[in-house]
Amino acid sequence: MKKCRIGVLTGGGDCAGLNPAIKWVVKTAQDSRLPRERGIEYEVLGLRDGWKGLVNVNPASADSMKEYTLPLNQDLVRTWDRYGGTMLGTSRTNPYDPKNDRSKIALSNIDKLGLDALIAIGGEDTLGVANKLHQAGVSVVGIPKTIDKDLSGTDYTLGFETALNVITEEIDRLRTTAGSHKRIFVVETMGRHAGWLALEGGESAGAYIILIPEYDFAVGRVNELVLEGKRMGSRYDIIVVAEGAKPAGGGEFVTGNGVDSFGHKALGGIGEYLAKEIQNASKVETRSIVLSHLQRGGAPCAYDRRMGRYFGIAAVDLVLKREFGKMVSYKNGEITAVPLQDAVGKLKLVDVNTQYDVERYNGRRTILR
Ligand code: F6P
Repeated sequence: MKKCRIGVLTGGGDCAGLNPAIKWVVKTAQDSRLPRERGIEYEVLGLRDGWKGLVNVNPASADSMKEYTLPLNQDLVRTWDRYGGTMLGTSRTNPYDPKNDRSKIALSNIDKLGLDALIAIGGEDTLGVANKLHQAGVSVVGIPKTIDKDLSGTDYTLGFETALNVITEEIDRLRTTAGSHKRIFVVETMGRHAGWLALEGGESAGAYIILIPEYDFAVGRVNELVLEGKRMGSRYDIIVVAEGAKPAGGGEFVTGNGVDSFGHKALGGIGEYLAKEIQNASKVETRSIVLSHLQRGGAPCAYDRRMGRYFGIAAVDLVLKREFGKMVSYKNGEITAVPLQDAVGKLKLVDVNTQYDVERYNGRRTILR
């Protein structure tokens, strides 16, 4: 019997859908048909805290192994698909951080841990590292996740749909209080440089105005639209703004001066800025709310449980076929795989020409052209 060990880790910002993916990696790798029919037996070793676990672990020390790894089996992961976050923990550690390059340690630990394959579940940053490790000779497979849905090479990334549900539910709550008090609410969503969460969250919730990073907005036009709504008798308005959206001629709003080990600044503050501008111009009481990490929290919705399952299964299929250096992907209605190289390096952003209404600052009004 051929015995192999698969490592699995989750990196970057957490979200719903990671645990279902881990569960189905384990269940597929440990399916009793593999030893019986294919003469192969897999062990699955969870690496804790993303790339941090891989870099920090000392495989010779039992205590360190306990701190940074977790052997996984079907019994342990049986219920995981119903929980949010990641049971393996995560981090934004970058082994290839130019200021602190620990890639050699990562490579040597992969060797020492006896990993025949590594499944990395993450977004641009995590899979960017996976791609570099693959180029260095590691047998890596990627699973796409990020609430931002900004990864190239796939139409879906785990966590997105659950985050949309949160945005929709929170806006439904805001509507009742906004209506009672005749207030405008500016709702700031996450998404970094991509507008998917704001656009599709705003569309799901029926927002009056949606502002996305891909199209710089004019504050004057926002105010015109608000006044127009007021004239038409609206009692309240919901305005959704992506954290990365910016007024024409201005820059992104950032909180603090720091950058993480992938060089990202923390975005935030556009909602508050906009609420002040709107209140000044419209004289309607305007409040802002930042949905922040609520969008990443909570149990995975049915779609993320299913997609986590399919992506987890497909990742092990790739390992079995020894098709490394690939990311499982959802494309044109099918689960498939693309080279990791095609998934990283270029963000997938909203196509303003076909998906956004630049006059009404909202979702498109023409679909069939
Ligand atoms: O990439 C996911 C994301 O939630 C972004 O939308 C957001 O800008 C960022 O992570 C926040 O990161 P952190 O959890 O480190 O504050």
